[in-house]
Amino acid sequence: MKFNYPLFNAISVAAASPRTINMRLMTYNIRLAVSALMCFQEATFPQVQDLDTGLGDEWTYVGVGRDDGAQAGEFSPIFYRPSVWKLEDNTTYWLSETPEEAGSVGWDAALPRIVTVARFRHKSSGARIVYMCTHFDHRGQVARENSAKLLVRVSDEWSSYKSKTIPVFLGGDLNVTPDNVAYQTLASEMYDTKNVVPEVHHFGNVKTYTGFTVDSSDDTEIDHIFVRDPDGLEWDSFAVLNTRFEDGIFISDHRPVVVDFKMPRKQ
Ligand SMILES: *[C@@H]1O[C@H](CO)[C@@H](O)[C@H](O)[C@H]1NC(C)=O
Repeated sequence: MKFNYPLFNAISVAAASPRTINMRLMTYNIRLAVSALMCFQEATFPQVQDLDTGLGDEWTYVGVGRDDGAQAGEFSPIFYRPSVWKLEDNTTYWLSETPEEAGSVGWDAALPRIVTVARFRHKSSGARIVYMCTHFDHRGQVARENSAKLLVRVSDEWSSYKSKTIPVFLGGDLNVTPDNVAYQTLASEMYDTKNVVPEVHHFGNVKTYTGFTVDSSDDTEIDHIFVRDPDGLEWDSFAVLNTRFEDGIFISDHRPVVVDFKMPRKQ
């Protein structure tokens, strides 16, 4: 698979004040430079290595393969720049009855499913953020509902650190539209950033899944970025970018979802 990167530069960002950090989070099912953290899905180890190479020396990633907790199966990796962020802590949970058991398949899911959870410290300011990157099952509705409940618990756990509340984000291909119970479970405890960013600052597309077809009639909105505690964050924009440009080649069957915001330097 060949990757194109122009979309990563597709948004210009307003200047940060000295007290804030310009943040960008992205989730992108790739089928396979602000202070950005990018969460991908459906990346097998060779693709993760391609991304790592393609993004250059400045970027690295955290995450493991879902089949064995090492290199086998799809990753939900989070890419970040180690010059900007210190990875302080990370773990992988399997979306199953046994979240710590590598390779476990939950409920009625077709496949093992994971969430990569990582806490980062912004090196120059000390501000912290947690990013959770996931990919829900495409078949099992019970699995998706229970995965949502599990992720609510995980986000609660990771939101307190040294008796402070730090912002927890969840990005991913959830394989559910907003009318699904699994989405609503997440939305009852967290906020879809799409609903937090004022609509005048939305741009691009609405639908995030296009398949590899130009016909948009069956496009759906299944990739989302949630935030647990939006207090203190200033929202700049919410965008669903393109996955196909003038050359007509689909980069993926999903579109990237990108949210830009400012975070206080001190929390
Ligand atoms: C990330 O997780 C892996 C696997 O548990 C562990 O070996 C590594 O030390 C962790 N890194 C950090 C910085 O927490």
